Amino acid sequence: MGKLLRRAGVPVLFVVARRMAAAKKAVQFIGAGRPLALGDPRFIEAPVVLLTTTDTALQLVAQSLSRIGNDWSGKVVLHTCGSLPASVLSPLKRKGAAIGSIHPFQTFPNPAAGARSLMGSFWGIEGEPAARQVAEQWVRLLRGVAFPVRAARKDLYHLSAFLTCPTAVTLMERAAGLLKEVGIPARIARPMLAQFVAQAARNFAELGGRRALTGPVVRRDWTTIQKHLAALRRFSPDLIPVYLALLRPMLRLAGQAPDGELRKVLSA
Ligand SMILES: NC(=O)c1ccc[n+]([C@@H]2O[C@H](COP(=O)([O-])OP(=O)(O)OC[C@H]3O[C@@H](n4cnc5c(N)ncnc54)[C@H](OP(=O)(O)O)[C@@H]3O)[C@@H](O)[C@H]2O)c1
Repeated sequence: MGKLLRRAGVPVLFVVARRMAAAKKAVQFIGAGRPLALGDPRFIEAPVVLLTTTDTALQLVAQSLSRIGNDWSGKVVLHTCGSLPASVLSPLKRKGAAIGSIHPFQTFPNPAAGARSLMGSFWGIEGEPAARQVAEQWVRLLRGVAFPVRAARKDLYHLSAFLTCPTAVTLMERAAGLLKEVGIPARIARPMLAQFVAQAARNFAELGGRRALTGPVVRRDWTTIQKHLAALRRFSPDLIPVYLALLRPMLRLAGQAPDGELRKVLSA
C-alpha cells in the first residue's frame, strides 16, 4: 500500500517497525521514507499515520503511540484491519487525532503480491469525517472503489471476507490433493482450479448466486452426490462434514430438496 501510494504521489515520510531491520526493508520496498524503530518520536511530524500491524496488536500499538506527543489534533490515524472498528484507536482520538479505517477487500500473501493486486480494489471505510476524507482520497489515487462500512457490524463484514477467500484457498488445496490421487500434478491442478474459480467468480458477479450455480445439485443428480460421499468416505473422510455443511446452503440456494437416502444423510 505504501509503495502504491508513493507511486501515486503521496509522500511517505517515515516507515516505523518494531525492528529497525524490518523498517529498512520496508523503506527499500516502498522506495521512500525514513526508517524508524517503534517508539522513536520523530514520526509525529507526519500528518497522517497508517497502522498496518496485525489486528491483535492494533490496540497495544495505538496505546503505545498515544504516549508519544500530547497533542494529536489535526492528525489522521487510519488502520487497515477489516474486523475491528476505528474505535480501537481511541487512545489516539483522546489525544486529538481523527481516527478511521481503510480496509482493502483484497488478498495479498506478501508485499509484492499486494503491490500487484491493490490497484483497482474495493475498500471498506469507516471512522471520523477527516479520516474518511483521507481514506477516500487514497482510494481514488489507487483507482479503487470506496464504500462505507457500519462500524458496529465489522464482525459480519470480515466474516464475509473469510467465507470467500481463505476458505476458497483451503478448498482448492484439498481439491488439488484429490486430483493428485487421480494422477493430475500440481502444475496442472493449480492453474486449472484457479481458472475454474475465477470463472465461477465472474459468473457470480454477473448473474448472482442462484443463476451462477451449476453442478449436480442444480441438475437434481442425487446419484452423483451419493458417489461423492462414497469417495469421501474412502479417500478423505475428514471432508464429509465440510461437504455436507456446504451442500445444505447450496440446496437452499438452488431451491432443491433431495429425496430418499440423501435426505436421511442430510437430516442426520
Ligand atoms: N494480507 C491480507 O491479505 C490483508 C487483506 C486485507 C487487510 N489486511 C490487513 O492488513 C494488516 C496487516 O496484515 P498483514 O497480512 O500484512 O500482516 P503481516 O504480514 O503479519 O504483518 C503484520 C505486521 O505487524 C507487525 N506487528 C505485529 N505485532 C506488532 C506489535 N506488537 N508491534 C508492532 N508491530 C507489530 C509485524 O511486525 P514484525 O515484522 O516485527 O513481526 C508485521 O510487520 C492487518 O490489519 C490486516 O487485517 C491484510
